[in-house]
Amino acid sequence: ENIGEPSSEEFEDIQTKGSYINFFIKRKNMAGLVVREILAKKEHYGKNKLKKEKVMVEFSQANTHKAFHFGHIRGTSLGESLARILEFCGNNVIRVNYQGDSGMHVAKWIWCYKKYHSSEKIKNDEAWIASIYVDAVKRLTTNEKLQEEVDAINKSLEEGKDNKLNLLWKKTRKLSLDAFEQIYKELNTHFDFYFFEKEMEKDALRIVEDLLAKKIATISDGATIIDLKKYNLGVWVLLRKDKTVLYSAKDLALAEKKFNRYKIDRSIYVVGAEQKLHFYQLFKTLELMGFSQSKKCKYIPVSEIRFPWGKMSSRTGENVLYSEFIKQITEFAKKGTKERDKKISQKELEKRALKISIAAIKYFLLKQHPNKNIIFKREEAMNFDGDTGPYILYSYARASSILKKVKQKRKFEVRDLNEKEIELVKKLSLFPDVVASAYKNLNPSIIANYSYQLAQIFNEFYHSCPVIGSEEHESFRLALVESFRQVLKNSLY
Ligand code: ARG
Repeated sequence: ENIGEPSSEEFEDIQTKGSYINFFIKRKNMAGLVVREILAKKEHYGKNKLKKEKVMVEFSQANTHKAFHFGHIRGTSLGESLARILEFCGNNVIRVNYQGDSGMHVAKWIWCYKKYHSSEKIKNDEAWIASIYVDAVKRLTTNEKLQEEVDAINKSLEEGKDNKLNLLWKKTRKLSLDAFEQIYKELNTHFDFYFFEKEMEKDALRIVEDLLAKKIATISDGATIIDLKKYNLGVWVLLRKDKTVLYSAKDLALAEKKFNRYKIDRSIYVVGAEQKLHFYQLFKTLELMGFSQSKKCKYIPVSEIRFPWGKMSSRTGENVLYSEFIKQITEFAKKGTKERDKKISQKELEKRALKISIAAIKYFLLKQHPNKNIIFKREEAMNFDGDTGPYILYSYARASSILKKVKQKRKFEVRDLNEKEIELVKKLSLFPDVVASAYKNLNPSIIANYSYQLAQIFNEFYHSCPVIGSEEHESFRLALVESFRQVLKNSLY
């Protein structure tokens, strides 16, 4: 009774079976509806208005004076993907970066350059910048006493009274930041706003003063700390003995700035999983401070990527620079591309190989849950068959080449459907739910996996159903191919 009168337009039959009621959908009708909806909504198909919040997504956060390494691609891609998913679901998203342009790593670099490399010209070369940092770490490990010199530089940089030192900092900082911008362009991401660690220092000191006054923070062995053992979160150090600010205290200032300046509803941090304790300590301290939005902060841990031969870290210098990595992968992609298209021009080859490489890498990273460690295997990521970016792009290209061969007709008629067509229609109809699920779980891998399954189903359809010249089936099949291409595009986006 409550269902009302089911329309004979939609259902072929309705039967009761035991305690169930089975509805039999009119497949032809449904297929027409799904395809019409996709072709009408185009790039908007799958969007929904789940939430209309102002959400800040902070991601990428590379440190100046250090390498942007291969591992940074994961957080950068994940952040961008989450931002798009949030937007697709109705939110107003602000993409922000928080670059580490001050602190001990910067002091180490400046110290090492001044002391051992000052005869070298400052070069606009990532590899060189990274190498100075690696050298600093090496020297400091062999002689611990040298750390005192670094501490002095750190203090001096924070006070900002030494003009020559400030200038060197500014100049080298800019080299790193410019290099990062190139990378963001290549990865097709952008930021609406940049925060820097340097600009947090003053506010951090003010907040720490306040925490001391309120007796939330204490002095222990000369350092300023918060004892969080009660919460099973250990001791959080805010200031060093020499009163210079630590990463921790700067994050207190950042949280405040984000909410006060941008009036956001939610703040998402996409950061390496190894910083889990730090973020729990941060959120707990914000709560203790009485910061009313502490519950609106969310940490998304990003697990690491390794190569089959092990871990990378920019401290020991075993890391692979982003630029080197991309160059290698692109060389590899060129071979595969050339095999498939022997007449391709050099320029087009470079362009296409880079696009395929970036797609392959992003897909390889995003198809996994952010919490899962990944071992990057080049041959696996770059395979043109299988669960890979190149395979999915290939399906897209295949659909495009069918559509290129004919003039698109506006109208179509659904004839008797075979199983492969039905499978494809069903899968297309699920896209809005898939998006909603990725949004609720803040997990892009749900959409990535969907895109692969969709491509597979399309390929099965393509092999068993001729499209062009299939007479009375042609108009619908063409519309189905176009729908597929649209939905695949939306999900890859
Ligand atoms: N720059 C930091 C690092 O490389 C990550 C910053 C993460 N964001 C934050 N608000 N703490 O470790």
